[in-house]
Amino acid sequence: MSLQPCTAAATSTATAFASEARAGLTRSGQKSLPPRYFYDALGSTLFEAITQLPEYGLSRAERRLFQAHAAQLAELAPAASVIELGSGSAAKTALLLRALLRQRTVSYCAIDVSAAALEMTRQELAGLPGLHVRTVESEYLTGLDTAMQARIAHGSTLVLLLGSSLGNLDFGASVRFLRHVRGALHPGDHLLLGADLIKPEAQLLAAYDDAQGVTAAFNLNLLARMNRELGCDFRLTQFRHRVRFNRDTQDVEMHLESLIDQSVHFADFAIAFRAGETIHTESSHKYSLTELDRLAGNCSFRSAARWVDAEGQFASYLGVAV
Ligand code: TRP
Repeated sequence: MSLQPCTAAATSTATAFASEARAGLTRSGQKSLPPRYFYDALGSTLFEAITQLPEYGLSRAERRLFQAHAAQLAELAPAASVIELGSGSAAKTALLLRALLRQRTVSYCAIDVSAAALEMTRQELAGLPGLHVRTVESEYLTGLDTAMQARIAHGSTLVLLLGSSLGNLDFGASVRFLRHVRGALHPGDHLLLGADLIKPEAQLLAAYDDAQGVTAAFNLNLLARMNRELGCDFRLTQFRHRVRFNRDTQDVEMHLESLIDQSVHFADFAIAFRAGETIHTESSHKYSLTELDRLAGNCSFRSAARWVDAEGQFASYLGVAV
């Protein structure tokens, strides 16, 4: 039997996880945990299962859009370099890449904080003829800057931010994020953005609280991961997955609610929870088309195309850097 060596990358992830989790759980007011830590190996697998749930139509809607419009997209944005921010299983990305590869060879760079996600990406895209794949384990924007340095000098770049990744940022952060992306690009480069649209509240709540409990398991895995990696002692049966729709912000909010008064140990201190108190784990913003156009416009992108899936109420926006 061989033991896995503790790599420098794994150690620094654990340190960052510990300090970010500690900050989120000890601040006054609403407790929170950073959503980037959902995606360890188990979390990434559970998220893949979420994308196949009957209630979570978002991934199927985006896939339908790519099946219908990938050829047009490849014509509008005939990129030599594709950089994906958050690649996950890359199942939908393969549809876009196949369309681009009909025209030329493509250099593809996946950026993700999750090593498990990058492994899925590599497996999904292995063997696409004419595709050169690179993966970078990092935060999106740092990774983007690195990837832009390695881009193909001749030919344009297409950046992908798919699913509801943009919606996981609050309004200010989404503007800063898109401006940074725009700043990294050259005029004529493209950005393909996924945006989940406003839909009836019952449908939104079901998408984040499915009948089989897969989403609940995904959310609770964040606590299980803290037990595994940070030595915490969360009792998973004493917390439950909670979803709310915030009408003021048009966000679906994910929380973990403590069912009882309890305290949980984290390193050398204890964190107290009251019964009914929650940890906010993620928000997922739902857009109107006007809001989406305005947001991209405010970040110096001009709309080149926008496709809407009526069944799933999901939009793909293709912007060109001006
Ligand atoms: N980015 C996904 C989304 O907003 C993440 C997600 C899906 C999620 N289901 C979840 C996050 C449940 C927390 C809990 O759609």
